[in-house]
Amino acid sequence: MILYSQNPSETIRIGKRIGSRLKAGDVVALMGELGVGKTQFIKGLAQGGGIRKSTYVSSPSFTIINEYQGKVPFYHIDLYRLREEKEAEGLGLEEYFLGEGITAVEWADRIPSLLPEEVLRIHLHYTGKNTRSIEIVGKGKRYEELVKKFGVRCPESGVRSKILNKF
Ligand SMILES: Nc1ncnc2c1ncn2[C@@H]1O[C@H](COP(=O)(O)OP(=O)(O)O)[C@@H](O)[C@H]1O
Ligand SMILES: [Mg+2]
Repeated sequence: MILYSQNPSETIRIGKRIGSRLKAGDVVALMGELGVGKTQFIKGLAQGGGIRKSTYVSSPSFTIINEYQGKVPFYHIDLYRLREEKEAEGLGLEEYFLGEGITAVEWADRIPSLLPEEVLRIHLHYTGKNTRSIEIVGKGKRYEELVKKFGVRCPESGVRSKILNKF
């Protein structure tokens, strides 16, 4: 499924709508170039996942992992500073992936072999200065269903978007 965002708040809104469908144990893998909107999207995910707007700060800048407490814990992992996948091995990422929270991973493509097989993949692309395409692919039954349901509900949900493909 590909959605189109016209501005940052729309990206947050799409994230929020997806976040509201996530539950404990879910993992979302974010990909896309620097400045494309991964952190904006995660801001929405966290809000949708029940983290209060005022609690949520931004991307983890010095730490790699930020934890937020809500009804369900929300973990924001940013691997921007990771030079090679090996460096991630000591971080205990699998504990987050298997844990009781919702986990969002920025620069997920830096840890291809450490990511869980079943995951919600979000790939953002530039389409203009303030426009982005947001490609959403569910890997594994749970996430495939989630994307399918999201796609069906999307037109009446107020997200200005076009659904090109369903995976
Ligand atoms: N449609 C859009 N969606 C998301 N961000 C956008 C959009 N248009 C412009 N922007 C800007 O792009 C930047 C995205 O930053 P950020 O989310 O930190 O990117 P990343 O985490 O991918 O490096 C922000 O400054 C935001 O205001
Ligand atoms: Mg970021």
